Amino acid sequence: MEEQPKFPDLTVAERKALEDLMPDEMSEIITSGIKRRHFLKLIALTGTGLLAAHLLGIEQLMARSIPLPEQVLLPIENGVDLSLKINGSVRKLMVDSRMTLLDTLRERLDLTGSKKGCDHGQCGACTVILDGRRVLSCLTLAATCGNKTVTTIEGLAIGNELHPMQTSFIKHDGFQCGYCTPGQICSAVALMDEAKNGEASYVTANVRKKSRAIKLSGEEIRERMSGNICRCGAYPNIVDAIREVHGDEVVAQVWQFADGTI
Ligand code: FES
Ligand code: FES
Repeated sequence: MEEQPKFPDLTVAERKALEDLMPDEMSEIITSGIKRRHFLKLIALTGTGLLAAHLLGIEQLMARSIPLPEQVLLPIENGVDLSLKINGSVRKLMVDSRMTLLDTLRERLDLTGSKKGCDHGQCGACTVILDGRRVLSCLTLAATCGNKTVTTIEGLAIGNELHPMQTSFIKHDGFQCGYCTPGQICSAVALMDEAKNGEASYVTANVRKKSRAIKLSGEEIRERMSGNICRCGAYPNIVDAIREVHGDEVVAQVWQFADGTI
């Protein structure tokens, strides 16, 4: 049976990504839509620098094109009415009083950028920013977040313009599989404010000396990011990405494409 087109309209970022990644298939995509084999080809490109440069467009494309399975709606027990400001929009919903913020974001609000790694507060993949502080959303009950402001990885970019931390992670290749990356980036963004506010960490030399802003050393960054685990071991590149956003100097990029370009 002929595959059905998934959708005909492409955003600017999606079109640019497809033109660069799959120029030969572009005219077919325009006339017939995105098909399964196009996705397979995009997935095969995962991990290349070219795909990294178009991450936002491809993420949009995947999110718009992959149909979600039919949701089975179970009755809500012990319902709590909730109003949250998420990524700039007020969202009102009723949740089970035992539901975590992570499950609320992923299962009820279709914000699947925050990842469930361990669901036990041990990996940091679920980190989001709640009223300006980083929290583990798998350990946070949604019912405790009423009238609070939540920023997830989906809320950091402005339109097609990435947050500087996202740009820096791409520049320094701060990820491989990308599973931990939303949590790493949210954590790193909140970390900038903690440093600006002079908040001490376990490795701060003198915790009695209250400083207005802390210049983070590599050791400080590693300690402050130690709640975010990366199974792929992208740690040195993550630290470089954060150093570049935190400091004034440009941090040298230590990787390049096979043809020598960076
Ligand atoms: Fe929340 Fe691992 S999923 S810390
Ligand atoms: Fe794979 Fe961190 S990039 S777990």
